[in-house]
Amino acid sequence: MVNQQKTVLLGVTGCIAAYKACEIVRAFQKAGYRVKVVMTEHATHFIDPTTFRALTREPVGLGLFDDPSDPIHHISLAQEADVFLIAPCTANVMAKITYGLADDLLTTTALATTAPLVIAPAMNVHMYENAATQHNMAILKQRGVTFIEADDGYLACGDVGKGRLPEPETIARFVMDLLEGQVSGAAEQSPQQGAQQNSQQTASQSGVQDLVGKRVVVTAGPTVEPIDPVRYLTNRSSGKFGYAIAQAAADRGASVTLISGPVALQPPASVEVVHVESARDMLAAAERVFDKCDAAFFAAAVADLRPLNEADQKLKKGINDDLLSHIELTENPDILSTLGHKKTHQVVVGFAAETHDVLTYAQAKLQKKNADMIVANAVGAHKTFGSDTDEVWLVTADGVEHYEEMPKADLAQIILDKAFAIN
Ligand code: CTP
Repeated sequence: MVNQQKTVLLGVTGCIAAYKACEIVRAFQKAGYRVKVVMTEHATHFIDPTTFRALTREPVGLGLFDDPSDPIHHISLAQEADVFLIAPCTANVMAKITYGLADDLLTTTALATTAPLVIAPAMNVHMYENAATQHNMAILKQRGVTFIEADDGYLACGDVGKGRLPEPETIARFVMDLLEGQVSGAAEQSPQQGAQQNSQQTASQSGVQDLVGKRVVVTAGPTVEPIDPVRYLTNRSSGKFGYAIAQAAADRGASVTLISGPVALQPPASVEVVHVESARDMLAAAERVFDKCDAAFFAAAVADLRPLNEADQKLKKGINDDLLSHIELTENPDILSTLGHKKTHQVVVGFAAETHDVLTYAQAKLQKKNADMIVANAVGAHKTFGSDTDEVWLVTADGVEHYEEMPKADLAQIILDKAFAIN
């Protein structure tokens, strides 16, 4: 049931997609909401304020000092809003809000409002992917700003990629669900639905920001255990599963720390990456962030053993033959088990790559390492390392769910849904 009294304050910034804001206004009005519009000066180059004035039958906010009847216009706008939606939002306005700059009515109102702030960015793909933009988005997410992720597609500038403003109806629906307390709808779909609806939108693709405020830690990739300055022991892990989980969690609004062994992957732009080599470094990095996290995903292929003695000079044939032919090994710390036994409020998820008896070993690891879930998969024979797809079994105390082979990006969404449903 929609509360007729709710006011959506719509911020429109200087972007070619500004014309879509008219449709956003109409979508809210059709559902019975009152809409007021505030525009930046740049936005008026794309669409005339008269259009919004006619559509909303309300004055349109432009300048800080343009309403003589209201000397503190930004405060009254800020107070009237039940939600402040900025759509489309440029990189520039996002940057200003990140740093608390308030040099026009829109940004001053953003600073002054206590209503939920929802941002739908729209811009060129390279501007969207720029480290500065991603950094600002990550900071705003940490502060509780909700993002409606830009769509992929053909952009006005001719480039193809991420940066399109989603459809007005989608944006309005999302904000209405937020106002009516139903925002996590898509993320609440069951894992079975997720698997069956593989071809449909994932939570991330639909822009759902259900993990805003959550802190996620992911370990990924192999560890590297030195023998001497040039030789080491390692394994074939590609890191793809861990990176997919980090990407999916960040897309859904979580603050993500990705602790990665050496891999040939580009880390997602909006996650904090800690590069490590050995299991002991990985454990130390994980220990630093574990207490404050809500969920930890231990996807790394940690070397179980390391050379007992790391030579500080290259071992030479003919001189160090004994050391080279008998490398004494010692056990590495088990990161998942160490932190699994220290967990308080955290959801702890481990992975198990097995060549046989997959479920038996996964169930044993669940208990032994005090994990809440083990993502088990089969390796060896016909399975290739570094694949973009996988078939998994999600093993929890409640039982086992099987997912047929599908892209790791889709499995990552299912794993996040399942993990965050555990607590
Ligand atoms: N793991 C870990 N630290 C280790 C070894 C494993 O954190 N030293 C974690 C992995 O990240 C994974 C889970 O434990 O989430 C299972 O790893 P796996 O290598 O399959 O199991 P192991 O316990 O090493 O047992 P085994 O190799 O005998 O199967």
